[in-house]
Amino acid sequence: MSMLRPVEAIRADFPAFESTAGEAPPARFDGPGGTQVPRLVIDAVADYLARHNANAHWHFPASERTDALVAAAREAFAAFVGGGPDEIVFGPNMTSLAMHVARGLGRQWVAGDEVVVTGLDHHANVAPWEALVVERGVVLRWWEADPETGALDLEDLPPLLSGRTRLVALGGASNALGTLSDIAATARVAHAHGALLFVDAVHLAAHRSLDVTASGADLLACSPYKFYGPHAGVLWCRRELLEAIEAPRLRPAPSTGPERLQTGTPSFEAIAGGAAAVHWLASLTDAPGGMRDRLVATFTALAAREMALFAHLWDGLGQIDGLRRFGLPPGPGRTATVSCTLAGEAPLATAARLARHGISASHGNFYALTAAERAGVHPDGWLRLGISAYTTHDEVDRALAALAAR
Ligand SMILES: Cc1ncc(COP(=O)(O)O)c(C=O)c1O
Repeated sequence: MSMLRPVEAIRADFPAFESTAGEAPPARFDGPGGTQVPRLVIDAVADYLARHNANAHWHFPASERTDALVAAAREAFAAFVGGGPDEIVFGPNMTSLAMHVARGLGRQWVAGDEVVVTGLDHHANVAPWEALVVERGVVLRWWEADPETGALDLEDLPPLLSGRTRLVALGGASNALGTLSDIAATARVAHAHGALLFVDAVHLAAHRSLDVTASGADLLACSPYKFYGPHAGVLWCRRELLEAIEAPRLRPAPSTGPERLQTGTPSFEAIAGGAAAVHWLASLTDAPGGMRDRLVATFTALAAREMALFAHLWDGLGQIDGLRRFGLPPGPGRTATVSCTLAGEAPLATAARLARHGISASHGNFYALTAAERAGVHPDGWLRLGISAYTTHDEVDRALAALAAR
């Protein structure tokens, strides 16, 4: 197995972890809400703005460099998802991209057509399809997850499908409970019924390598700011589908290729930074081969390191009086993100208490609203702790000690 850089070396890439005035920086467990950014990414953003800034498609140097940079970023993200560069669409975030393609797909659907959404998903993968209930008379079917573990049972899917099912909207991994979904198996079931599969890979992409070709997905969206990049969204869309979706577009804008699904001028600096994040991830192991091989090696090694730390966190949480852990125990079925509640203390109060101990953790429903309702934690939600590439054993110990100290 290829060697992953030690966590201290990884942390040295992040200005956010430099101590200021001798004070240790906060331990950042808020990765599932957005990770910190390595210097390489910050430099790529700044360099674009300082030296290449221009709009695309003109014949002067800065514009030509912008076109070249976007083309190179499409190559990087193609390697990241395992698809083709001409299938990579850029947008401001995953939610906007999902809203946009849902609207486009919906234009070709009629009243009575059906879409399956899950009770586990972030509402960015529910609301775009729900909007079509009002706009197109689409019928929504709910694939419910086990409220405690967050696991979706594949056996529950076929009865929800019919000849009218147009699409299944699946979360690749739950940003609240960490549960991983079986994308390939879901694709097979959806396709057997003539339905498309849209995958929300926003949480998944931070913890596992993606493979749109092997998984059989038709569309997949992710957000570089969850995997060490700037705030942006990326959509992969299968080539033939990309040319067929009738999403709203300006008549003078490109009518073919990935730009037909983009709206307006994208953030070129965020595209530059996003590509730099992919390169940074690929540099974390010494694996031989091309960019894709190195990304796969990085995520294989990162997932193992994150899960070892997570097991320590999970066990420690289990020792704390009144603390309730949600989701599956450490293992292959989940990412290293856990949500929990403490008896007698609202998650907001716990998060504020942790902040006083130098621990940054998120609280609330994380827009996985249905999952929070089904788990019975609505409206307060959970406290969420996420392990990232830069999390240390010592930080986990500090978080556990802070949680226990009340
Ligand atoms: C699983 C999941 N899906 C979708 C989103 C929305 O992503 P974006 O902020 O890029 O719209 C998030 C953001 O937290 C998420 O965690």
